[in-house]
Amino acid sequence: MIIKPKTRGFICTTAHPDGCAAHIREQVAYVQQKGTIAGAPKRVLVLGASTGYGLASRIVPAFAGRAATIGVFFEKAAEGDRTASAGWYNSVAFEREAHAAGLYAKSINGDAFSDDIKAQTIALIKADLGQIDAVIYSLASPRRTHPKTGVVHKSCLKPTGGAYVNKTVDTEKGTVGEVNILPATEAEIADTVAVMGGEDWEMWMDALAAAGVLAPGVVTLAYSYIGPEMTWAIYRNGTIGRAKEHLEETADRITAKLATHEGHAWVSVNKALVTQASSAIPVVPLYIALLYKVMKAKGTHEGTIEQIYRLFAERLASPQLDEEGRIRIDDWEMTDDVQTEVAQLWEVVNTDNLSILSDIVGYRAEFLKLFGFGLPGVDYEAEANPDQTLPSAV
Ligand code: NAI
Repeated sequence: MIIKPKTRGFICTTAHPDGCAAHIREQVAYVQQKGTIAGAPKRVLVLGASTGYGLASRIVPAFAGRAATIGVFFEKAAEGDRTASAGWYNSVAFEREAHAAGLYAKSINGDAFSDDIKAQTIALIKADLGQIDAVIYSLASPRRTHPKTGVVHKSCLKPTGGAYVNKTVDTEKGTVGEVNILPATEAEIADTVAVMGGEDWEMWMDALAAAGVLAPGVVTLAYSYIGPEMTWAIYRNGTIGRAKEHLEETADRITAKLATHEGHAWVSVNKALVTQASSAIPVVPLYIALLYKVMKAKGTHEGTIEQIYRLFAERLASPQLDEEGRIRIDDWEMTDDVQTEVAQLWEVVNTDNLSILSDIVGYRAEFLKLFGFGLPGVDYEAEANPDQTLPSAV
């Protein structure tokens, strides 16, 4: 099959297996060139391991610390004339690279919110690794079926105060327009907290602790975002921000429960980056396109792999926390000079000057790369085999 990108708004419905493999090799090469991280965890469970920050959180301990990794994700294999999802191809490629390097890597594809996947994961840890030293919680999902009530909660991206009007970009058409979003209802806020808050993280840690598979000194880590004021109405003070507040409070509860393991739960506040999850948020893609322009000019731009390498190499061993007890790896994004420049550009950016003032070109390229398109050395006119089996599944 010759595979081309098919984009619809912020979704790409195709993915390229060889392109995704090239993307994995690029990230592995970055980590190898940066070098070994002393003290990196050796047995790592990554929830949401197939794309974005979770994928980087699997690659870094594996290739900078020779960690054994178990990755959990919810992806689709190819079917008929449909390609697999990008996260599927990423995971196939990750396992191949890991196995070639002599590393343990197995994956579980299914709904991480369910009791069944938690039980399968625990059984795999017991059978193969005994215990784990780190749990990375990096799920981003539009919905969650609650394992105890069966209720399907759907998250939404809305303000929680009044209606919100701001600039936004149609990344496909390259037009800057206005979004006007009505505020969320209390039920919508509660649903978003149920999906993206900390309840499932705590359920995972409870289940892993009860099964006796957490090693002494275990560390668990979940990811949050704060960002600048121009995005607060939709992000930090919006429905997703409420969920992140819940996630952050949950870290304290988990840490208290981990006392017997001398363990710790951390929340790391990460940089805004193009991922499948962030491209769905109104306003944020325009902010990211401006941010990339400014940070690339200053030489401080990072992608997920650079962020997570720095997190593991410089933050995890001796975390320096903000006043709320969070790890900050968004420090370069949030410097005054970067934020002042982005705010100035925000005021004047419009459809006519978008390609000059923002890095919309880089944004689009980065978005397509998430699906394995635009990687150097890949022949996109050649036949590709969409049917790829996860090596650990055979
Ligand atoms: P992503 O969309 O790239 O990755 C989501 C992952 O969750 C994928 O591996 C997917 O398979 C998995 N997943 C979704 N539903 C699942 C389910 N039911 N069962 C099992 N796996 C499931 O997202 P991204 O952006 O990497 O987000 C990860 C975390 O990082 C989120 O908490 C997000 O809020 C946070 N974050 C993201 C930032 C960004 O700019 N992208 C910035 C700061 C934090």
